[in-house]
This record gives sequence, C-alpha cells and structure tokens, in this order.
Amino acid sequence: MIGTFLANGFSIEIRNSMRYTFSLKYNRNYFMKERKEPKTFFVRTYGCQMNELDSEIMIGQLVNRGLKRVHTEEEGDILIYNTCSIRDLAERKVMGKLGILGRNKTRAKIIGVTGCMAMAKKDSLFKKLPHLDFVLGTNNISNLGAVLDEVIHTGKQTAITDKKFEEDLDYLVAKRDSNISAHVSIIRGCDKYCTYCVVPYTRGREVSRPYNDIVEEVKQLVSKGYKEITLLGQNVNSYGKDEKEWGVLFHDLLRMIDKTGIKRVRFLTSHPVDITKELMEAVRDLPSLCEFVHFPMQAGSNRILRKMHRIYTLEEYFEKVEMLRKIVPGVSLGTDMIVGFPTETDEEFEETYANMEKANYSTAFLYTYSPRKGTPAMRFKDDISDQVKDARLQRLMALHKRQSAEQRTQMIGSTVEVLFEKRNDRGQLKGRTRCWRKIIAEGPESLVGEIGHVEVVSFHNETLIGNLVESAAKSLV
Ligand code: SAH
Ligand code: SF4
Ligand code: F3S
Repeated sequence: MIGTFLANGFSIEIRNSMRYTFSLKYNRNYFMKERKEPKTFFVRTYGCQMNELDSEIMIGQLVNRGLKRVHTEEEGDILIYNTCSIRDLAERKVMGKLGILGRNKTRAKIIGVTGCMAMAKKDSLFKKLPHLDFVLGTNNISNLGAVLDEVIHTGKQTAITDKKFEEDLDYLVAKRDSNISAHVSIIRGCDKYCTYCVVPYTRGREVSRPYNDIVEEVKQLVSKGYKEITLLGQNVNSYGKDEKEWGVLFHDLLRMIDKTGIKRVRFLTSHPVDITKELMEAVRDLPSLCEFVHFPMQAGSNRILRKMHRIYTLEEYFEKVEMLRKIVPGVSLGTDMIVGFPTETDEEFEETYANMEKANYSTAFLYTYSPRKGTPAMRFKDDISDQVKDARLQRLMALHKRQSAEQRTQMIGSTVEVLFEKRNDRGQLKGRTRCWRKIIAEGPESLVGEIGHVEVVSFHNETLIGNLVESAAKSLV
C-alpha cells in the first residue's frame, strides 16, 4: 500500500503505483448494499474508429461473460463510456454526461470510463466523479474482466492505465454491428508527437500487431462473408517499423491481405511522411485496395507545420501528392486540417486556404485548434480568438463544399463500383464507392452486402444518386 489520505470527504487508499486501487468508503458502501450481480451492459462510444473497434472488442468480452447488451442507459447494469480527448468539446460532452449520471444514480449501476480520457485524466476522474467504479486505459482492454470482478466483489474503485500496450488482446472476440464491413487493428499508438495532439499520450508508443494474426483475422472475416475491411491505426503506414526483424512493412502487409480474398481494403489514418512510393504502387496494383488515401495536410503554411512538428514541408507534401496522382490517376485524397493554431496569421491562413484548394480533397475533416493539457503546444499562447478560428473554419468548409460539389458534378455520367451496405428509410440501396463517397440507387434487397455498379445521375449534398447498371467495367471513382 502506498498511502491513505483524505480528499473531498472520502478516505482513499492507494495500493500500487502502476495499478491504482482506490477504496472510497462513504457512499460506495451505500450503493454496494443495493448492488446485484450485473446482467446487462450498455456501451457508448465517442471519438474515432479505433475507439469503435475497442468498443466492439469490449462488447464481445462482455457477451462472452454471459451479459446481455442493451441500448439504453436505464436498462444497463454496467455502463461503459469509451471516451475521446482529442478536443476540449469531446471531453466536455463526456464529463457532462457522467456528471448527470452521478446525480441520477438511483440504483446500483457499475459505471466505467475507458478510452483516451481514461488515459488523459486517469484516477483524477474519481475525484471529480466519485460515483465512477472503474477507469480502464486504452492499453488495458484485455483487463476489463478482471476490473469488473474487482468492482463487483469488493466494491473498490479501480483504475488500470498502463502506458504500454501488451500484445495480449484477443481481437477475435469483437462483436461487430455490421456483417459487411469490419475494422481491423494493425498498429496501436503513435510516435509522431505533433505538438497539438494528445494521442501519443493517450495511446502510447507504436506497437505493430503480428502480421500473421492480422491475416488470420481477415481470412476469418472473409469466411464470414465480410466484403470490406478498414485497417486501423493512428499511423497505419508506420506498420512494422517497430519490429524491424519481421521485415514486413505496410505495403508488404497490404499485399498479404490482398491474397485473402477480401474484396475491399481501406486504411486509416496515415501520416504524409510515411506515405511511400511502394504504398502508392500497392494502391495501383492491388485489386482490393481502394483508390482513396488519407493524406492529412493539417496546415498549409511551412512555419505553422514546423510549429506543429509535422516533419514535412509543403514542397515535400505536394511532391508526394503529385507522385501519387501520377501513379494512381483518379485517386481520391482525404485530409484533416486545423485552423487557428497559435500565432497563425491571416496571411498564413490564406496560404492554408490556397493549398487546400490546390490539393482538391474529396474528404476533409476540418477543426479549430483546441489546446490540450500535457501537449507541447500548451507552451504557446492560444492567441487566436474563437471568432477568428470560427471564421477561418467556415471559409475552409465553404471551399470544401464547393470543390466536392465540382468533383461530384464531374462524376455525373460515369459508372462507379459500389458496396451496398443497407437500405435507407425510403427503401433505396445505400453504399459507398471505392473512393468512399456515399451513393444511393433503387435496387433489390438481395444486393445489400454485395458489390454492384451504378451510373451516377445527380447528387444531393454529399450523396451521389445513381441507377443500377447490369455490368460495367471497373471504374476508379
Ligand atoms: N493520426 C491521425 C490523427 C488522429 S486525430 C493523423 O495524424 O492524421 C484526428 C485529427 O484531429 C487530427 O488529424 C487533427 O486534425 C485533429 N486534432 C488533433 N489534435 C487536435 C487539437 N488539439 N485541436 C484541434 N484538432 C486536433
Ligand atoms: Fe496525433 Fe500527429 Fe500522431 Fe496523428 S500523427 S495521432 S496528429 S501525434
Ligand atoms: Fe479521440 Fe483517442 Fe481517437 S483522443 S480521436 S478516441 S485516439
């Protein structure tokens, strides 16, 4: 035991510095009296696809434990909030939600926080939210069962937030909502340390997953009828760099996966520095690999890129973009952009605007800068007013809207390959093109989960509208 002390009227014992075990006496005992063996659980997911996959894995673990998944908090005996810390708003949403739960905790539910906020705030969450039962970090999903046992049998508040990911997570238990498209983790963590970003601190160092395990999982998904996978990691194209003796880099992995028979492969997210010629050639050569590359620029001024520690210049960035467009004509690009980074001048924002226009992305996630505790950018004064940040964001949004409408207009009359994912409320087939555009068309139910071809006739907002065609040549768009 490391110590016992008093805070906020509770007596807290710290048992072990790595795996904090707190025992809060006061109202915990009150709730323990009411607590029965849990039968149901509810999971809410915030943040990115990596969190979605972690939730699917936790859901699988809990179902295997004999618990029933429910879709409302009222019905859940265990409530899990898989959280995100990327921007202040993401954290505020969760804190608001958890605060309300504390006020309404009328029966003995077990409440846990997992995900990136668990790592960013760790056990300090217990101080703010004494009704929480457990905090489980992003590298400890495999400890969910043990944490629940501890909470159920001792009533103690428990936090496990290891910094490093150990390769002991059983990905195969994941319970996915879709039986068409699946997320597959290939690497966890991030070693890039962009100055604004919490991810290296909430997800830890890069750890590549053994390629045999990945290929095995993809083969299983193929045998279950899945048509599409999205390979996930904060930096998928760093794959294998932490395990040099494997001799398998990202493009090698893609070639192995292409042989499994999966129809479509996507990947998210990538860092421009690690986008190689070999990766571009894989996009060109591998039938499964979709012609869409996430190529996040983040800012369009060299000074800001340096301050962000993005480790490329705009010249290097565009050299790669041009190489990719030469090797894979018609390829679509996606970006993430941050406006209002500390000290960004009007002129520098205009450069960002011009460079985003030049790159002509098909997908863009646009954000205003949000200072994050513990990141190097906290040293810089957040000196751009919310008003200016918002005005810059609106400009980029309008630019993207215009460019994406122009791209869609150009697609009218062409035939695209579509994976149909479901029917919408109006009974139309809804799917995605290879370049990740949403598309709808009239067609039979039997096509859900299948790949077909559609001639684009118009579009509404972000969604293309088309007519099913019997057979057509493979198209890039
Ligand atoms: N690994 C991904 C990023 C994951 S975070 C990549 O490098 O592309 C998703 C996006 O959130 C980032 O690309 C960035 O644009 C944005 N983001 C990260 N930290 C932010 C912050 N502090 N403020 C605003 N946006 C941020
Ligand atoms: Fe964050 Fe940069 Fe890593 Fe992406 S590459 S997760 S933005 S630190
Ligand atoms: Fe959020 Fe963590 Fe993903 S901070 S964006 S959930 S990696």
